[in-house]
Amino acid sequence: MKVLFVCTGNICRSPLAEGILRDKLSKRGTDIQVDSCGFESFHKGDPPDQRALSIARKRGIDISGHASRLFTIRDFDAFDRIYVMDASHYGKLMRLARNETDRRKVDYILNILHPGKNIPVPDPWYEDLAAFEKVYNILEPACEKIALELDKNFSGHDR
Ligand code: 4NP
Repeated sequence: MKVLFVCTGNICRSPLAEGILRDKLSKRGTDIQVDSCGFESFHKGDPPDQRALSIARKRGIDISGHASRLFTIRDFDAFDRIYVMDASHYGKLMRLARNETDRRKVDYILNILHPGKNIPVPDPWYEDLAAFEKVYNILEPACEKIALELDKNFSGHDR
């Protein structure tokens, strides 16, 4: 089982979600793989934003090892579930999807908590540190629910 988080720059929201979920899964001892990527190349190869790094560090999570990368069509084959942060990412993936199998893998991350509501995770990039803390607090319970469901369904098996 492989999970991908997608945002715009892959330096704020999706690396945070990746770090939070990986931390939860490692504590549960599962072998589910987690990655993140984005759509804009402005920060390609860069580590996460300082503000994302510091909020994660405050909660005991080190996301400094991540390097921003772009979504590629191969990600549809490589990943089983693809969680987006907002409607722009969802729209892009729906345009890129080659078939129903691709489309079915994609969902808004907050739909795990609020099914069908398509609530966005706000972009903190132009905001202050408090906005990153808010994003963390939005992502954390969503990742908890994802971890719970994955653990229930895929525990101990890489399938
Ligand atoms: P992210 O935030 O999508 O959560 O990583 C952003 C980071 C960079 C930009 C936009 C959003 N940018 O335009 O450079």
